[in-house]
Amino acid sequence: MDEEIFTEEEAIRNDIQSRIGEVEKERKHLIPILQMIQERHAYLPPEAIKIVAEHLKIPICEVYGVATFYNQFRFHPPGRHPIKVCLGTACHVRAGDIILENFERKLEIKDGETTPDKEFSIERVACVGCCALAPVAIVDDTVHGRMAPSKVEGLLLRIQIEKEKAEREKQKSEN
Ligand code: FES
Repeated sequence: MDEEIFTEEEAIRNDIQSRIGEVEKERKHLIPILQMIQERHAYLPPEAIKIVAEHLKIPICEVYGVATFYNQFRFHPPGRHPIKVCLGTACHVRAGDIILENFERKLEIKDGETTPDKEFSIERVACVGCCALAPVAIVDDTVHGRMAPSKVEGLLLRIQIEKEKAEREKQKSEN
C-alpha cells in the first residue's frame, strides 16, 4: 500500500515537474500554474506547492497564501464520492451551513477534507445555479434539492448500501 502511495506521489511529481518546466519563471504565472495542476490532479499536493515555489523562486508560504485565498483550490484528493454543499446566498439563508455541518459530523471530516478510506470528501461551493431548490447538496453528480439535515444520513447510507451490493455482485461473478 505504501509502495502504491509512493508510486502515485512520484507520478504526480514527475508530471508537475515536466509541465512546469514549460512555463516562464514569473510570479504572474502562479495562479495559472496552480489551476493547471489542480485540473490535472484534482488537488494541490504539498509536493506541488514546493515545486511551484522553487520554480518561481518565491517562498512556499507565499504559494500557500495565494492558494488558500481562492477557494477553488483543494489540498486533499477528492473522495470517490465527492460531496459539494452549496453555501451561496439562497442556500445559506435556508440553513445550508447546517447541512454542511451534518455531513462533516457524520463523516468526521471538515470542509475541504477527504475520509481516510478516500470514500468521501466534502467541499463547500458557491451557487450551483438551482436556487429554487435551496438548500442544495451535490453527491457524486446528483443534485439533491430541498436538503434537510435529516436527509444527510440517508444519503450516506444509500451510497454504503450500493457499495456493498456492488461488492457482493463482484464476488459472485468471480466465483
Ligand atoms: S445559492 Fe445554492 S443553488 Fe444558488
